[in-house]
Amino acid sequence: MPDVLPQLRHPTAYEMQRALLHAPQLSPRDYRHITVAPVSGAIGAEVTGIALGAIDDAAMGEVVTALADHLVLVFPGQTLAPADQVAFARRLGPVNPWPYARPMAGYPELTELVSGPADIHNFGGGWHTDSSTFPRPPAYTVLQCIEGPDAGGDTSFANQYLAWDTLHETVCRGLEGRRLIHATAKGFGDHSRSTGSGHVTTTPVVVPPEHEGLESRHPVGRTHPLTGRRALYVNAGFAARFEGHSVEESQPLLDALAAHGGIPEFTCRVRWRPGTLVVWDNRCCLHYAHNDYRGQRRVMRRAVVEGEVPV
Ligand SMILES: [Fe+2]
Repeated sequence: MPDVLPQLRHPTAYEMQRALLHAPQLSPRDYRHITVAPVSGAIGAEVTGIALGAIDDAAMGEVVTALADHLVLVFPGQTLAPADQVAFARRLGPVNPWPYARPMAGYPELTELVSGPADIHNFGGGWHTDSSTFPRPPAYTVLQCIEGPDAGGDTSFANQYLAWDTLHETVCRGLEGRRLIHATAKGFGDHSRSTGSGHVTTTPVVVPPEHEGLESRHPVGRTHPLTGRRALYVNAGFAARFEGHSVEESQPLLDALAAHGGIPEFTCRVRWRPGTLVVWDNRCCLHYAHNDYRGQRRVMRRAVVEGEVPV
């Protein structure tokens, strides 16, 4: 194990400001087809002045650029029909069905994630990236709110370029070349057929038998294929251990890196309204679904865009 725990500490104000200086977050580019307004100093932007159901190539190019700059784009008031949400997601790359839940009727690429009033657990209630156990984890997630509570059910996002850039250089050196095992059994163990379902939500999640033992090895620091920037790629939900080490040996450093990734200064928080559509880049940000709306119903439609093998 790299002996870097002593150097893992909260970044100083100087380190935080130096990392933020490299971010285009607070100074959006000049766009001709969209209006981009940052939602925090670290990550995320609200995009208006565009209808995603009828987006042309020029505007789509600007959306892709803004996504690379801001990592999370919030499009309020879109209310896309299922076919239009799939069509928009396809502009970003291949869209595959998610194999752990029944797809929406007639739309195999869409999963409807429903939280009912009696649900105690929710989807994604902890810092994670989507499906990092896959050999090619999703590059983007395209999530639309269909129904939501008046208050509660927000999603937070954390910029993992900033997480990497604020690590002590000794830590970065120690993590160089290291890989983590991302295990389905850790993230979805309760949902597998062999262990039964302990985390019940209104939309049943069932891990098919061929996925129960699925594990992938991904670098701890991954390089984004479009921006060339390095991001911390530690997923508390799925990362089980360092390659070549046991769970017990790995846990202290894993916990410390996961906590670093979720430092409040790296984050923004998105409030959903029916018709709000959010796109985020799983390669460089974490997300966290707040579970604070018990007794109410929340319905979200999700498409995931296939990514590349992390390097
Ligand atoms: Fe998620």
